[in-house]
Amino acid sequence: MSNAAAESSRTEGAASTSGNSSRFERFEGTSGYIASRGLVDAVNCALALQRPLLVKGEPGTGKTLLAHHVAEGLGMPLDSWHIKSTSKAEDGLYVYDTVQRLNDARFGDGDVKDIRSYIRLGPLGRVFSAENREVLLIDEIDKADLEFPNDILRELDEMQFTVLETGDEVVAKKRPMVIITSNNEKELPDAFLRRCVFHFIDFPDVEQMREIVDVHHPQLEKNLLEQVLVKFYWLREQKELRKRPSTSELIDWITALLRAGANPAQLESEIPFMGALLKNEQDTRAIQEFTSRGGTPPRNFDELKGPRR
Ligand SMILES: Nc1ncnc2c1ncn2[C@@H]1O[C@H](COP(=O)(O)OP(=O)(O)O)[C@@H](O)[C@H]1O
Ligand SMILES: [Mg+2]
Repeated sequence: MSNAAAESSRTEGAASTSGNSSRFERFEGTSGYIASRGLVDAVNCALALQRPLLVKGEPGTGKTLLAHHVAEGLGMPLDSWHIKSTSKAEDGLYVYDTVQRLNDARFGDGDVKDIRSYIRLGPLGRVFSAENREVLLIDEIDKADLEFPNDILRELDEMQFTVLETGDEVVAKKRPMVIITSNNEKELPDAFLRRCVFHFIDFPDVEQMREIVDVHHPQLEKNLLEQVLVKFYWLREQKELRKRPSTSELIDWITALLRAGANPAQLESEIPFMGALLKNEQDTRAIQEFTSRGGTPPRNFDELKGPRR
C-alpha cells in the first residue's frame, strides 16, 4: 500500500472508532446457530464499541461456529487464524518469504528486487487490507504462549502495522469485527482483557440443547430426542468421567444413531455407539462397570435427578 493511501484509510479507520456512536451494524442471529440473548448482546456490544469479542466456554459450546454465523448474519467475509502452541504474533501480520526470494535468485525467476512480491500477509494483514469490513476469528488464543495476547494488543487496538522490510504501512480500511475464542486453558493478561468485550458461553440447558439438535437434525423423532437427551445429560453428570461429552459429540452420536436406524426403545436401557460420546478408555470402562453392577441409566427426565431436571 502506498503511504498516501495508507494515510487516507487510516483517517477513515480511526474516525470509525469514535464516530457513528448511535448507529452500528447489528447481529440478529442466524437460523443455523442457537445463540442466547446474552451472547447476541455481547456480539452487538463488541460491534458498537468496535472492540474484539472474547468468547470463552468449554470445548464444543459453539465458540468457533459463532464466528462463522456472525459473519453470515452480518453478510461479511470471514478470515480465520487458528492458533497453535508455536503461533507468533508476527504470523498474523505478514511473513517475508525469503526462501522463495532465494530460490528465484538462484533460478533467475521473478523480480527479486521487488521485495513487496515476497511479503505474504497473514490473517490480520488480510482483514486490514480488505476493501470491505470482515470478521476475523482468532481461534483458541489460549493455545499460544503467555506473551502472545500481549504481542497482538497494539495491532488490534490501532488496526495498523508497518512492514519493516518495505516501510509500507498496512492500515485497516474498515475496522474488522474480531472474535477471539479461548477454551480457558490459560489465563489471559489483564491488559488484553481490558480491550475486549467478554462473554462466557454456558453449557446449554436441556431446552436450548433441543433447539441446537433441531438445527442439525430437524427430522429427529420426539421420543428418540428425549431418550438421547436423558442419556447425554446423565453421562455429563457422572463425576468419574474425565471428559464429559460436548454438544458436538451429541450431534455426532445422533447422526450415528439415525444412520443405524436406532429406535427409542433400544435407548431406554442401553447406550449404543458410546465411542461417539466418550473418548477415553477409563470413561468407557466406568460406564461399563456401572451397567455390569446392574445399574441402568435413567429412562426419562423424571428419573434423572439433578439440577437440570
Ligand atoms: N449454539 C449452537 N448452535 C448450533 N450448533 C451448535 C451450537 N453450539 C454447538 N453446536 C454444534 O457443536 C459443534 C461444535 O461447535 P464448535 O464451534 O466447534 O465449539 P467450540 O469452538 O466451542 O469448541 C458445532 O459444529 C455444532 O455442530
Ligand atoms: Mg473451537
